[in-house]
Amino acid sequence: MSELTLRPAGEQLPLPDVDMRTKLAGITFPNPVFTASGCAAAGQELDQFFDVSLLGGVVTKSIMLAPRSGRPTPRMAETPSGMLNSIGLQGPGIDAFLDKDLAWLASRGARAVVSIAGGSVDDYAKLTAKLRGRPGLAMIEVNISCPNVEDRGQVFACDPRAAASVVQAVKRAAPTGVPVFAKLSPDVTDIAAIATACVDAGADGLSVINTLLGMVIDTDTLRPALGGITGGLSGPAIRPVAVRCVWQIRQALPDIPILGMGGIRTGLDALEFVLAGANAISVGTTVFGDPSAPVRVLDELARALAERGFARFEDAIGLAHNPPVLYVPEEPDPVGDELPPPHHPVTFETED
Ligand code: SIN
Repeated sequence: MSELTLRPAGEQLPLPDVDMRTKLAGITFPNPVFTASGCAAAGQELDQFFDVSLLGGVVTKSIMLAPRSGRPTPRMAETPSGMLNSIGLQGPGIDAFLDKDLAWLASRGARAVVSIAGGSVDDYAKLTAKLRGRPGLAMIEVNISCPNVEDRGQVFACDPRAAASVVQAVKRAAPTGVPVFAKLSPDVTDIAAIATACVDAGADGLSVINTLLGMVIDTDTLRPALGGITGGLSGPAIRPVAVRCVWQIRQALPDIPILGMGGIRTGLDALEFVLAGANAISVGTTVFGDPSAPVRVLDELARALAERGFARFEDAIGLAHNPPVLYVPEEPDPVGDELPPPHHPVTFETED
């Protein structure tokens, strides 16, 4: 049996010499790797594997006002390169969360990004008001895009006006100096339009993206595999969709901070999001199989940047929109002058 070697809590990773700091809405984070909401509760379980304060931030599972038991089981189904979940925002309610989970994160010195979810605009305002004066709170992520609600009319992120009204209410109630990020759904025709509505309503940044609405049918039982029938698709299967969404939002809103997520498993996956325009990234579904993934991704991302000659993480943000001219050393022509130089149009003579 192979032995498991755990990193001692608090051990600093040997990162290459790249300045990994990133700024989100005026707050400087030591690095750009966060957890993704819903994949690591409030970080306690992950802390058995690494010190969660080493991450840029810990994004907590979306919390609602009251305790909630969630949707019927089964709540998870496998899909090719992905996972479907239908949790239904199970949680202890905001009061228990504040006393237990946020207090724990603060005691660990972690930067907490508290994800909130409500059934009405008023719910979001009340949740936000409860966060005032709480130590450890670094940001608020407004989950307006949970796919697992009974009424699809409650997916505020599918309508620009509904999204804006939630963001406005949260901004009014938010503690001063705590950035508010709106979490968007990819299940819309024009994600840049929703993003713009949120920013116009006061969002300080955007979390891009939540899961895609999906469904699996069990061909043995001949019925939907999930108790909730539909669920949210996550994992590598959605990465190209997520990168596209980050790209489109960065083009529409060049200055808005973006926390990018969707199927990130490696440092190179993370780099794709950064080049598309993400100022930071969240690592989600992969932690179910590899709990140390967030610190591994951080290490791999730093190495990938160093290998490409970056001294600062921030220099890579959005670079694919305006890529530098790459220097490719000229290779001597191995066959002499008989062939035309590269890119010279080649013509063939035909015999008639
Ligand atoms: C859930 O609890 O159903 C998932 C939450 C989300 O995807 O926003």
